Amino acid sequence: MSILTSPERTDCHVLVIGSGGAGVRAAIEASRYGDTVLLSKAIAGKGGCTPMAEGGYNAVLRAQDSVEAHLRETLESGAFLNDPTLAQTLVHNAPERLRDLLRRGAVFDVTEEGEVAQRYFGGQKFPRTCYAGDRTGHEIMTTLMEWLRSTPVRVFHETSAIALLKSGDAVTGALALDRSGGLLLFRADSVILAAGGGAKIYASSTNSASGTGEGYALGYEAGAELIDMEMVQFHPTGAVLPPDAKGRLITEAARGEGGILLNRLGERFMERYDPARMELAPRDVVSRAIATEIREGRGTINGGVYLDLTRLAPAVIEERLPVMLEQCLRFGVDIRRESVEVAPAAHHVMGGLRIDPLTCRTTVEGLYACGETAGGVHGANRLGGNALAETQVFGTLAGEAAGKAKPRASSIPAKQVDDQRRRLEAFRTGDANPYALLKRLHEIMGEGAGIFRNEAGLKKALLEIDRISRARLHAAASRNLADCCSVRNACTTAMLVCRAALLREESRGAHMRTDDAPPQSEERSPFGHTFLSLSREGIERRDRP
Ligand code: FUM
Repeated sequence: MSILTSPERTDCHVLVIGSGGAGVRAAIEASRYGDTVLLSKAIAGKGGCTPMAEGGYNAVLRAQDSVEAHLRETLESGAFLNDPTLAQTLVHNAPERLRDLLRRGAVFDVTEEGEVAQRYFGGQKFPRTCYAGDRTGHEIMTTLMEWLRSTPVRVFHETSAIALLKSGDAVTGALALDRSGGLLLFRADSVILAAGGGAKIYASSTNSASGTGEGYALGYEAGAELIDMEMVQFHPTGAVLPPDAKGRLITEAARGEGGILLNRLGERFMERYDPARMELAPRDVVSRAIATEIREGRGTINGGVYLDLTRLAPAVIEERLPVMLEQCLRFGVDIRRESVEVAPAAHHVMGGLRIDPLTCRTTVEGLYACGETAGGVHGANRLGGNALAETQVFGTLAGEAAGKAKPRASSIPAKQVDDQRRRLEAFRTGDANPYALLKRLHEIMGEGAGIFRNEAGLKKALLEIDRISRARLHAAASRNLADCCSVRNACTTAMLVCRAALLREESRGAHMRTDDAPPQSEERSPFGHTFLSLSREGIERRDRP
């Protein structure tokens, strides 16, 4: 199918865009109510962030723990910007959604008593993070894919959604490109965006190549509102070397199991930043500490600090961190005997589409969002281990709500299809290399919208993003059209991050403004969510005692 001929059309009740943990869980749930189609940019189950998630899944499973404690720590870590109902929904439902996976055959590590084993993760006083070694996301994804195969869900592999289609005010479908660049049209009663995050707008990122913010861009262009897009989490420990693996995730479980951070001078520097919690302070605190050590000249020659696990028994590393051990051995470092260099890497976007807490409906009729594509669950800084839980809790809710939504008698206006076709045709005659443009975007975001930001830097970044967004991208062949769309999505996502960052003139959680008034108590901040859509933008004010 070429972009010049009429696109092949598929009709369904629910269309799910994205095949990570949230998307697959949503599709499974939606299929109980009607014909469901799942679009996956990669081979479903292999792409996205879930299979790469290492450390774990937070769930309250023990009598000594409580959902109240999990909620409190989620809100504290989120600098009280979380939507409280979303956070409550997460902590209350996480255990049952974990049990769903266990019933479906997921193999998690267990204690000698046969209970699901749990470990410490940052920002939590109870070891609440359930794990399958350090390949927890992979175990979850494998289980979900087997579950998916037992349903009638129709899966379109290597198919990239490029635009949502609307009938009146409601989303009623999407256009997509298949692997050879052929245009496909999907008409649906409801569409769920579960397209993951956008941390790949930064050069050093733990995300897979697909993390260019497709869900944010598609939702924004369809008129949906996004909240808190300035809140980008930098994971404290991304790989520094080798250069082609820069940013690769070095799991927080390494610190949960007892690993420590040292600067070039051999100082355990977290003593200066958070003496009570040390390496297990929330991620925003640890990332800022590492970035400060590097900025002030106490980092390694390669621009990192050291993560040292040599104080752990080799057997602990071999049994609980086998993926990390193997990965570091491939990098030429034996973590049983020597420390590994790490530096913060863009990891997770806490902001996203504004959703209704119980149904995951966005502000646009017919459009739902879940997983990292949705905003509000994690506030200004996510607890490690809450993302995998989020995929299952909100994937289920979104799938159920979209599945139960009434069928819609609607047609797809031909003009929208023609507009998109023209946009694609323009890529064939463009002159700008999309990969070079993405590289430039990485530089812009690193310089202006990294861990530390200020007004001047953000404004400069926005101007630059605007400039490169106007470049006429070139697709050498039809199969490169999707790459051009991805780079456009990355530019839109970067624009949203910078605009939201300018709206929030305070430092809060992961958003550290170097030009703000002295930070106020996060719990008592007069500000709520930043919001952005095609029609309005601003920051909510809230009355706090
Ligand atoms: O460090 C990690 O294993 C990442 C976990 C998470 O982001 O939840």
